[in-house]
Amino acid sequence: MNHHFHGKNVNYTYAEINLKTLRLNLAAVRKEAGRAGTPQGVKICSVIKSNAYGHGMNETAKALADFGSEYLGTADYRESLILSDFLNKHSKKKAKILCLGILTEEKKFFDEVVTRNIEASIADVGIAKMLNDYAGSVNRKAIVQIQIETGMNRIGFPLSEAYEAVEAISKMKNLKVKGIYSHYATSEIANNAFAKKQLKEFKALVKSLESNVMKFELRHISNTGGILNYKDPYFNMVRPGISLYGYYPDRKKVVKDIGIKPVMTLRSRVNFVNNVPKRQSISYGRLHFTEKPVRIASIPIGYGDGYSRLLTNKSKVLINGRPYNTVGAVCMDWVMADVGNSHDVNVNDEVILFGEDYPAYRLSEITGSIVYEVICNVSSRVQRVYTY
Ligand SMILES: Cc1ncc(COP(=O)(O)O)c(C=O)c1O
Repeated sequence: MNHHFHGKNVNYTYAEINLKTLRLNLAAVRKEAGRAGTPQGVKICSVIKSNAYGHGMNETAKALADFGSEYLGTADYRESLILSDFLNKHSKKKAKILCLGILTEEKKFFDEVVTRNIEASIADVGIAKMLNDYAGSVNRKAIVQIQIETGMNRIGFPLSEAYEAVEAISKMKNLKVKGIYSHYATSEIANNAFAKKQLKEFKALVKSLESNVMKFELRHISNTGGILNYKDPYFNMVRPGISLYGYYPDRKKVVKDIGIKPVMTLRSRVNFVNNVPKRQSISYGRLHFTEKPVRIASIPIGYGDGYSRLLTNKSKVLINGRPYNTVGAVCMDWVMADVGNSHDVNVNDEVILFGEDYPAYRLSEITGSIVYEVICNVSSRVQRVYTY
């Protein structure tokens, strides 16, 4: 069932993605990163993995490229290829793609890396050698960035092996080592000893490599938390994700407000209104009973759309801008709201599940998760509608 929005035919339930807000957030993040005082300025690698944190990878990444993001960060080669195809067709800006995932022995990806605008992260000397050999065999160069493990214990060369590894890789003639980077585990916490240790050790490694082995065009470690809390002029690229979409990594730990706003508003409409007598149950499992006769608004969104079932009996929705409690188990396709006796709420009225006036982090507080998961979870059946 459809209605019109900004002249477009859209479903009842859709995610409005405001690209103007995205542009302003990118500018706010760039300004904040610039406060580090890096002499040549700071490049931005906008992290657009996981469908751009639920915002729709291709459209969001293209917008970020058009707004001047120098790099786009993907999680893996599947995402990188889809994005590269899309940008080649639709974007005039030549943003580069940095794949933050692991390059494996799959030859088809070697070919993609040497023929496209994709830069590979290198965390293994054997793979680097294979990529180097492949690039040589087709007479091309692969552009790579070295990934260093300083505290996540996830992926990258451990600090103890990094120096020798980079030395070896620097001798591989068909690889152009463009950058070196690491990733914080606790950067959302200001003044944190572990984050400081990661920064210090990574910086010492890169400095010694730069003095003795090779220079790096790009040096980076900061995600959003790092941009806010751990500025350092030695680094000349940052990798913001969550802040571009308008949220802080952790509401309680980041104290600084840089003026970003939520890009996504998850919207729907009241699809049905029930007049329910007192002492009646709502939804599966009878987890809520009415205390008095009330009107129950049924909204066509559920956990199949990414609206978590853990929100059962706990979340609010905004109907015509006013908050109402959801009642009863969240279904796959529906959630119900108690609108009391108000006749102000009727079929077709506008519902906001989250957005600027009811931020997604409020939902993550209810489910015991983080805001990242709430926005990433907006599922594929939810139409994305881009506005400016
Ligand atoms: C390697 C890497 N860099 C940067 C980011 C962006 O982090 P954030 O969304 O906290 O800014 C991520 C996301 O988790 C990441 O994995």
